[in-house]
Amino acid sequence: MMRRIHIAQLEREIGQLALISENPPPVVTRVLFSEADRRARQLVKELCRDTGLILREDAVGNIFARWEGTEKHLAAVATGSHIDAIPNAGKYDGVVGVLGGIEAIRALKRSQFQPKRSIELVVFTAEEPTRFGLGCVGSRLLGGVLSPQKAAKLRSPDGKQLSEWVKQAGCRGRLDSVRLRKHFYSAFIELHIEQGPILEKEGISIGIVEKIAAPSALRIELTGVGGHAGGTLMRGRRDALLAGAEIALAVEKTALTTGSPDTVGTTGVFRIEPGAVNSIPCQARLEIDLRDTKVGTRNAALAKIEKMARKICARRNIKLGFERLNVDPPAICDPSLVRTISQVCRELNISCKKMISRAYHDSLFMARICPVTMIFIPCRGGISHRPDEYSSPKQIATGTRVLAETLAIASLRQPR
Ligand code: GLV
Ligand code: MN
Ligand code: MN
Repeated sequence: MMRRIHIAQLEREIGQLALISENPPPVVTRVLFSEADRRARQLVKELCRDTGLILREDAVGNIFARWEGTEKHLAAVATGSHIDAIPNAGKYDGVVGVLGGIEAIRALKRSQFQPKRSIELVVFTAEEPTRFGLGCVGSRLLGGVLSPQKAAKLRSPDGKQLSEWVKQAGCRGRLDSVRLRKHFYSAFIELHIEQGPILEKEGISIGIVEKIAAPSALRIELTGVGGHAGGTLMRGRRDALLAGAEIALAVEKTALTTGSPDTVGTTGVFRIEPGAVNSIPCQARLEIDLRDTKVGTRNAALAKIEKMARKICARRNIKLGFERLNVDPPAICDPSLVRTISQVCRELNISCKKMISRAYHDSLFMARICPVTMIFIPCRGGISHRPDEYSSPKQIATGTRVLAETLAIASLRQPR
């Protein structure tokens, strides 16, 4: 079957979405429920309507756009990703899976394909942790990994609760209605840029994800004693920043010494109060991201960081608040879906390799309710979460084509 991807149109739409940002181009910043995020959601919904999809939105703002199949009683096949973007991000993270998902559906429609199982595009709320300190809020709720009670109480740094955010964003319904039953979808397949260097380095067009690494995040609140930077002598100071600096170095050291090259540790948030040059920092907040492909290694590293933080704070006489924001297991992708995609690539004469996703994705939590896998495309230099993130039109078209074929096969697949 010859299915053409209209890459010029898809590129135009990616460009259009990138201009909806809290910062001028080439920077994309689209934090959940910001003005930019709301406008971006409108644009995506418009594109779904233009494609003839039936729209639904749940109580946390996950968007669902359905192409009804002939066998409505069968579980649908789903694809999708996110359009929220961290501060100082690029155009492609998440967006390729959403706009590419729409184009995959359009390509199937243009080819007169008739799905048996419905095909549904999902745009997840808050894949990025910027707003609430927790990533994948939408898919965690869908997968039953996060309780509606806990979700409602998530707070943005200004203290506003998620329940208020969703109300203001116009989401309707109760958070406890978001969860989907097990096997609600027959499969979930997410198209995404690799966010790593392997595909580009090896000159391979498609990565097929077999496993998603185990993420975790910690929040550390340090309380010391502030004071005049001139008038307070060095001896006996209780400087919260210095304790934080030692902790950040301990994170690096821990990640480097687990014995696994897959351990990665990052102190990505470090805020101090009062933030004045002539004042000793009395408070510091750190957010630490720690991951590994093996849950045991990741957990041991977490425990070590906690122990080192306690020691550092005891020595510096700093009060320590320690919170595990999330500690998730890895996800194993569905071998049969992985095989299907390998086969699609073989038939289309597209090079592919099986790989691990070191970044997390909504697929990690969709795996709790249905078989999942991901289709990765190369990105230049492996760069992501930066404005110079880039995948070429050809790479995006290839990924979208593979997604379209995979959705078609999955939509015709009988119950196992
Ligand atoms: C997703 O954005 C991640 O941080 O892996
Ligand atoms: Mn991201
Ligand atoms: Mn992403």
